[in-house]
Amino acid sequence: MNILVIGAGSIGSTLLRECEHIDRIRRCYVLDHHPEKLERLEDRYPKVVPVEDLDKTLKDTDLVVEAASQEAVKEFGPMALEAGADLMIMSVGALVDEDLRSELYSYDGDIYLPTGALCGIDAVYNASMADVEEVTLETTKPPTSLGLTDIDKRKVLFHGPAEEAVKLYPKNVNVAAILSLASIGFKKTKIKLVCDPDIDRNTHKITLKGAAGTITGISENVPSPDNPRTSYLAALSAAGAIKKICSDVKFI
Ligand SMILES: NC(=O)c1ccc[n+]([C@@H]2O[C@H](COP(=O)([O-])OP(=O)(O)OC[C@H]3O[C@@H](n4cnc5c(N)ncnc54)[C@H](O)[C@@H]3O)[C@@H](O)[C@H]2O)c1
Repeated sequence: MNILVIGAGSIGSTLLRECEHIDRIRRCYVLDHHPEKLERLEDRYPKVVPVEDLDKTLKDTDLVVEAASQEAVKEFGPMALEAGADLMIMSVGALVDEDLRSELYSYDGDIYLPTGALCGIDAVYNASMADVEEVTLETTKPPTSLGLTDIDKRKVLFHGPAEEAVKLYPKNVNVAAILSLASIGFKKTKIKLVCDPDIDRNTHKITLKGAAGTITGISENVPSPDNPRTSYLAALSAAGAIKKICSDVKFI
């Protein structure tokens, strides 16, 4: 299997590191706005091949992994599926756009949405096949993560539908989108955003109440070493998703 990774940043480089250990992956094509990043990766990881001719590369690619930006989902998503590859999306917030979502979903190829910085999405997805009363994401961040300086005690910044949260707090868009898409949608999923000066990790607590019971998943995330805005768990979720695709025994 050959993959094409769009974005050689924090998620992309973690993914490429892990792909070196996955036997079924033969080649990892990589594309980035900053070619100097590719040189470093090429030196370190033998499977890495910088993209020279995108059309030619797509013909030799089984899975395109977007690990770049919402713009890159729009630019490369339809192109990847059109070329017959499957698509993994890390900038899941791009799928808030209903038109883009319908376009991408209309192709035959598979679309993979890793669980990112969240834990418990598997159970929430399964439980959403039965009746659901409510789904909530409570995200708590230190003031620095929210770009705030004047907060000296715990404060709820927002509590309402995901649809509104993604517009007011775009930095929280990926987790809100993953949970909404895996459960009851952007209109019904509720988001609570809390700023807390006494914590140093971004914490996400997801809760579902419904016919299957009550499900709670909490992740207290350590930042990625090379991008403090991205949780290390989110980068590992991309690598974990590829490992699942390539393994004979699948935890799904
Ligand atoms: N799903 C989740 O839970 C989750 C968590 C964290 C981050 N993300 C998202 O994943 C994406 C990547 O995160 P990261 O931490 O690796 O970011 P990063 O800034 O460390 O790396 C992104 C890389 O992509 C490149 N890039 C951006 N747009 C590009 C384009 N159109 N074409 C080619 N290269 C492009 C940049 O040059 C950069 O090297 C971001 O959009 C981020 O919002 C998702």
